[in-house]
Amino acid sequence: MNDISGNKLPKTKAVILVGGPGTRLQPLTDSIPKSLVPVLNRPFMEHTFAYLKHYGVKDIALTLNYLPDTIKDHFGDGRRFGVNLSYYIEEEPLGTAGAVKNAGEFLDNTFVVLNGDVFTDIDLADMLTFHRRNNAAATISLKWVDDTSAFGVVETDDTGRVRRFIEKPPASEATTNWINAGIYILEPDVLEMVPSNTHYMFERGLFPGLLDAGKRVFGYEFRGYWMDTGTLEYYFSLNNDLLLSKTGSPLLGKLDAATVYYESDDVDIDPSSVIIPPAIIGRGCRIGSGAVITGPAVIGPDSSLEEGASVTNAVIWDKVRIGSKARLSRCIISSGVDIAPDGDIAGCAVTPSKTKSIFIHS
Ligand code: GTP
Repeated sequence: MNDISGNKLPKTKAVILVGGPGTRLQPLTDSIPKSLVPVLNRPFMEHTFAYLKHYGVKDIALTLNYLPDTIKDHFGDGRRFGVNLSYYIEEEPLGTAGAVKNAGEFLDNTFVVLNGDVFTDIDLADMLTFHRRNNAAATISLKWVDDTSAFGVVETDDTGRVRRFIEKPPASEATTNWINAGIYILEPDVLEMVPSNTHYMFERGLFPGLLDAGKRVFGYEFRGYWMDTGTLEYYFSLNNDLLLSKTGSPLLGKLDAATVYYESDDVDIDPSSVIIPPAIIGRGCRIGSGAVITGPAVIGPDSSLEEGASVTNAVIWDKVRIGSKARLSRCIISSGVDIAPDGDIAGCAVTPSKTKSIFIHS
């Protein structure tokens, strides 16, 4: 992790919002929820669990709506991942604040809420200290962005107290570039202002309501790493940033950008193939003669490159077969896809039934 304290918050519980359908990440999320989409070959949510565990936060509620059984089947009671999981399922999506209200029985003390698709190294311990020092009812993490037009902007005064929320202002109308980064510290009694069994959002409902009621709402500014992985482009960027060591995951530590990582000895790499780092090669991979992998690249478990195939800057999931002399660059290939020999794929996300072009941030 980057520059974060090792302070622990052992009595603090967390709620993770993982109920959304992940439409912007389609087609990758057609059959699996965003929380299971692999980042460096590990389901995204495992990185979030490791992040929370780093702070001693192990009691976690997952609020679910889209594909809840897939998530429950994978994570179970959480013991395999060193956390204790409780599940709160919504028959109909309840929105971000409604989902937390639905988990109300789980919450007995100051607690943390995380958007389930944010990857960050924000210092949670420091944020909690800030929350307590300000005797706040709610503290919202704030991240500086150049273009505010896709985000909720949060105006604060000199002490950090929130004055106003503005949803998705065009850059010309934004009065500040600090946006709501989707990590909150809340006191349980703020949930009294959230209606039960009703679709209700933090951004447009609870937070403006708290301001109107004169409650103490603060913004915690941070300048560390933050990525909303909700789009194909940003998902791709996160994998690259981790491989290039621009940030680190507490699950795997900070990677060395000059290294090729093999997840297991159980791989079959032809001596005439070339792998240029940074790269991760999953268990059971087969790299054929003359094949070339140019990082940053992730090759998922049980995937194969046939003779002469080339992969340049790609995120390849598990059980993908890349035919001989096929060329892949700047792409995401999901589980079980078969790329025909001599195929040429660039700038796309590919699933067994769909292909979607993506604009990839450099
Ligand atoms: P898109 O469909 O691409 O907009 O993504 P999303 O709805 O999955 O996520 P979005 O970025 O809009 O929401 C932020 C976070 O809140 C994500 O982690 C979602 O899973 C979660 N979320 C959004 N709406 C709900 C809801 O109604 N219930 C629950 N439990 N979580 C939600």
